[in-house]
Amino acid sequence: MLNNKTIVVGVTGGIAAYKACDVVSKLKKLGANIHVIMTKSAKEFVSPMTFQTLSNNFVIDDMFEEPKTWEVEHIELAKAADLFLVVPATANFIGKIANGIADDMLTTTVMARTSQLVIAPAMNTNMYNNPIVQDNIAKLEAYGCEFINPASGLLACGDVGAGKLEDTEKIVEYVENYFDNMAVDDNKKDLEGLNILVTAGPTIESIDPVRYLTNRSSGKMGYSIAQRASKRGANVILVSGKTNIEKPKELYKYIEIESADDLYREILAEFSECDVVIQSAAVADYKPKSYSDRKIKKSDGDLVIELSRNKDIAQELGKIKDGKVLVGFAAETNDILENASRKIKKKNLDFIVANDLTKQGAGFSSDTNIVKIIGADGDVCEYPKLLKTEVADVILDRVSKILSQKK
Ligand code: PMT
Repeated sequence: MLNNKTIVVGVTGGIAAYKACDVVSKLKKLGANIHVIMTKSAKEFVSPMTFQTLSNNFVIDDMFEEPKTWEVEHIELAKAADLFLVVPATANFIGKIANGIADDMLTTTVMARTSQLVIAPAMNTNMYNNPIVQDNIAKLEAYGCEFINPASGLLACGDVGAGKLEDTEKIVEYVENYFDNMAVDDNKKDLEGLNILVTAGPTIESIDPVRYLTNRSSGKMGYSIAQRASKRGANVILVSGKTNIEKPKELYKYIEIESADDLYREILAEFSECDVVIQSAAVADYKPKSYSDRKIKKSDGDLVIELSRNKDIAQELGKIKDGKVLVGFAAETNDILENASRKIKKKNLDFIVANDLTKQGAGFSSDTNIVKIIGADGDVCEYPKLLKTEVADVILDRVSKILSQKK
């Protein structure tokens, strides 16, 4: 149910606008308080009266008409929204928002909101596939907006391909899942007294005083886990590679490392006191065979750098597990389930969190992740795109359950 949730629904001008009526009706029946904002062109497709009747609220469309309340309407609505859903979203709307243009009631309210923006595009397939539209979508995703991707099929214009508004059922399901996942009790202290070690960020393997090998990890996933675990009462030791993001507050201990060898050494020093180890750091599998303490001079030909294998830290910890809960991550680009399942066994993990690095909004650097969690007995739970803090809570819920089963 969506009781007490205020959802602002933006409707832009496309033939799929009539389907937004169904979305509004379904959300209303689930108990949400709905406010509809229509663009001028949306009104060419559906009458505001339809949305007014379905939502039981005035429809807002004109920035300059007599206000219905004394407040500045777009600011008040922006503040009131628990979620902002734009359905259907045209290429024009996406382009405006991606470029900071706020020239009507809908775009100004979107700009003024602080709640999550979810956009369900619908347009001609060539428009949707146009690199300009795709760039705008990628830009908005990088700002944390979520997209409900359009389905493929026969479009109103007669073309066949991607661009059809996703099923209204699925859009409503997406909204329900969003609020389910948000239903985190901030006062929950279920991890009180537990010592949890979290690894985060990239490792750096130096070649000479100037160059090194590293990877694209920003640390956001691990820092989110550390932050949520601290909030839920755990004593958190965060062992982190170098990052540019702010350190979570309320940590028990913070240790910065550079190389995979440093990481291994620091984990081992803390390991005996830990109840749980969550390994989200992106650890280099190889390091230069030898380190040159002078800058390697360039010559005319190619340069070959020989690499030697780093220790697989997770695998080593798996050998000395001694009743601790060990959680690994799997950063994959293909054969996700097979590869992740193999890693669980090899590293003696309780479960593994697999992220598909080829998906937009998953893996490195983004504020969101799309994960599958695979248990030691092979059970698989799939999650939609969630904020990394929400993924952190999903992981910690599972840790908490395993620990309570051990009691
Ligand atoms: O930091 P962000 O930008 O937020 O990105 C998050 C992330 C993509 C880095 C994170 O979600 C993630 O997937 N981390 C694991 C990256 C990784 O090293 O995956 P892997 O499949 O190569 O390794 C599997 C597991 O073994 C991992 O838990 C890893 O920490 C561990 N490992 C790997 C190599 C090694 N030599 N020693 C290890 O312990």
